Amino acid sequence: NQYPTFASDLLSWFNTNKRALPWREDYAPYRVWVSEIMLQQTQMERGVAYFHRWMEALPNISAVAEAHEDTLLKLWEGLGYYSRVRNLHKAAKIIAAEHNGTFPENYADIRALPGIGDYTAGAIASIAFNQNVICVDANVERVFSRIFDIDTPVKQKQNMEFIRKTVAEVLPSGHAREFNQALMELGALVCSKKPHCKRCPLQQYCEAYHLGIPHERPVPTAK
Ligand code: ADE
Repeated sequence: NQYPTFASDLLSWFNTNKRALPWREDYAPYRVWVSEIMLQQTQMERGVAYFHRWMEALPNISAVAEAHEDTLLKLWEGLGYYSRVRNLHKAAKIIAAEHNGTFPENYADIRALPGIGDYTAGAIASIAFNQNVICVDANVERVFSRIFDIDTPVKQKQNMEFIRKTVAEVLPSGHAREFNQALMELGALVCSKKPHCKRCPLQQYCEAYHLGIPHERPVPTAK
């Protein structure tokens, strides 16, 4: 085993505790992409229901590129933040025109698509293509704010930089697909707002746990 026990403990946990989500069946880039866009500002259960409906109507990127905007808006109805679906449409047209209808594998090409920021580009590059890049969402921020007992607002620039640097350091090369999902899954299922430290595979590494204050992390931004 090459990588530190932190990563292997987390990966073992993920292997037995991960949810059976539809895009995890094959990690097809199109499915990973749509799932990540849907899950922004949308709860998992709701996202999964909309995901199934979307994929039934639009089984591939060409179908999205060729669809009328009304069709897409109808499939998105109820999810809100409609710029997300407009950007999906624009991106699908770009993929059709500039990438032969195949989702681009190059990180810069992924990041350049409309609606795709640092988080989503990292999620797609790692989850769909298993590239060694980080993806840090609010779940991952929470996990790291507890493990390192970050006692200032987690969104502060130096804290976000620390978290991104540290995730990159512990990311086990060749296992980014599983590792990034495992961190997010841990944040969703165990290291949640109200943490369940008793069943956490990273308990031994967690400063906030040892101090008895995991519920005090992350420190929110002062209003
Ligand atoms: N939330 C958003 N993307 C996710 C993923 N890939 N796994 C678990 N939770 C997520």
